[in-house]
Amino acid sequence: MDSAESIPDRLDDPRSLARRRLLQGIGWGGVGVLLTASVPCTIRFLRPQGLHGTGGPVELGTIQDYRSPAVTTRWVSRHGLWIVNRDARLFALEAVCTHLGCTPRWMPDRGLFRCPCHGSRFSPEGEALNGPAVEPLHRLAIRVEHDQVLVDSSLRAPLDRAVRDPRFFVRL
Ligand code: FES
Repeated sequence: MDSAESIPDRLDDPRSLARRRLLQGIGWGGVGVLLTASVPCTIRFLRPQGLHGTGGPVELGTIQDYRSPAVTTRWVSRHGLWIVNRDARLFALEAVCTHLGCTPRWMPDRGLFRCPCHGSRFSPEGEALNGPAVEPLHRLAIRVEHDQVLVDSSLRAPLDRAVRDPRFFVRL
């Protein structure tokens, strides 16, 4: 039999069609998985890396609420930040992992933040202690007005800039 004639026959074979549909399904499934996995990277890529985040100033209690050296975790779910009293300074850390944007957790027993997604760890100052994240956590603008602590998440800065810029810490 001529091999050129046998090809249409095999293409019309119901088992061949089913196999092709299965392979197409697997292919499209793979594309879907890749697209889904790339969403966090795309968001991170499109997000401005400068000083501008989202939101605006919010009142987060009085300065007396933060007099003791500690990491305050109560604002993470509502405002996506921690307020840290450390070395006679009060500062706000953005609760967004600099790897792919998950929310790290404060581990008081270890004195560090750990990201549940891929294991990055950060010091209480926000420095990246181990990867995959290499950049420190961002800091948010913070100030005290009439005893009220105000954090402005529309103004964010990388650690090296924030430690020198008085908009990003309050001396205690
Ligand atoms: S998103 Fe935090 S380590 Fe990957």
